[in-house]
Amino acid sequence: MSDLSAYRNEFPVLNQRTYLISASLGPLSVRSRRLAEEHLDLWQRLGPEELWGEHGLPRLERCRRQFAELIGADPSEIAIVPSVSSGLSSLATCLDFEKRPKVVLTDMDFPTNHYVWRAHERRGAKLDVVPSPDRIRVEAGDVVDRIDDQTPIVNVNRVLFESSWIMDLPPIIEAAHDNGAYVVVDDFHGAGVVPIDVHELGIDFLLAGVLKWLCGGQGLAFLYCRSDLIEKLDPLVVGWFGTMEPFNFDRSGLRLRGDAGRFETGTYALPQAWTASGGLEIILEVGVEAIRKRSQELTSYVVDKAQEAGLELLSPGHAERRGGLVRMRVPGGMEGAKRILRQLFDRDVVLDQRGDALRISPHFFNTEDEIDRCFEELVKLV
Ligand SMILES: Cc1ncc(COP(=O)(O)O)c(C=O)c1O
Repeated sequence: MSDLSAYRNEFPVLNQRTYLISASLGPLSVRSRRLAEEHLDLWQRLGPEELWGEHGLPRLERCRRQFAELIGADPSEIAIVPSVSSGLSSLATCLDFEKRPKVVLTDMDFPTNHYVWRAHERRGAKLDVVPSPDRIRVEAGDVVDRIDDQTPIVNVNRVLFESSWIMDLPPIIEAAHDNGAYVVVDDFHGAGVVPIDVHELGIDFLLAGVLKWLCGGQGLAFLYCRSDLIEKLDPLVVGWFGTMEPFNFDRSGLRLRGDAGRFETGTYALPQAWTASGGLEIILEVGVEAIRKRSQELTSYVVDKAQEAGLELLSPGHAERRGGLVRMRVPGGMEGAKRILRQLFDRDVVLDQRGDALRISPHFFNTEDEIDRCFEELVKLV
């Protein structure tokens, strides 16, 4: 068993509650809180040039470097965006759907992905949605079969948000590239919990936010863009921070940055850079390989407990195919699941609910004892 228990002191919520839902909201660390307070102290004292120039923007650059390190990218390939939805939306504006209308995605991808591509139906995009055979997995081969020379881009969620199934990316990337199509990976449920190297995999674009597994808080996400593609992309969503010299206040033309920063627009949610850098620092310090190992131990333990409790598992049984969360059906349909969730909150067990199922997502700092405590309460309620 891996021992990462020293990090438990970083997360005060663990002293008060059985917190098992980092797939939805990573808990606040002592480090991020101290950094958030540092920002407030600076804001109280400083003017804009000092606050932003000497502290805020360098802090944001630090987040950029940290995320680049996490996914094996160069910092110049990372744009800071307010959300996965907005980063994906900007990227979508760069594509021409007239010659290649067919966007391939799956019916297990997060709905925001669907909404972004649907918005481009008015520009000629046509969605080709690959169905899951069982609402748990999507086979890479089924995605590959849809990719052809009409496809501009394939949208894949590396780890499916409902079931936690890990998609097999290499055949999808290979088929996309053979057909002259791009691949955009929504990695919100992968980054920080399942190792990845974007260069090794040859991924074109990847998005993730700091909210969940990265324990960084809300309002900050990243768009990775492969270096050789950057200057070929001209987003229709722009702003001064995406230009070469924002502080020249030059209105004579639009000169977008030569790096992925061209996807950046207006004033950043800078306070979030402080909390985000704290979360990212912890994840990098522990290391995603070590996190993955511990996560597999813990999710396997959850699977065993669910089976003992007679609950139907709605996630992969094999640890290698499963990301950081385990989903299980509970009695009483959606209303039953909502009721049980509320009752668990009253007992200080924090999970979340999707449809008629509960999701349990231990992070590296959780323990088997916490999972035992969760199931002790859960079996009384089902
Ligand atoms: C896989 C995935 N993509 C995207 C989102 C939404 O991201 P955002 O709110 O940053 O647009 C979520 C949110 O839970 C998600 O799970």
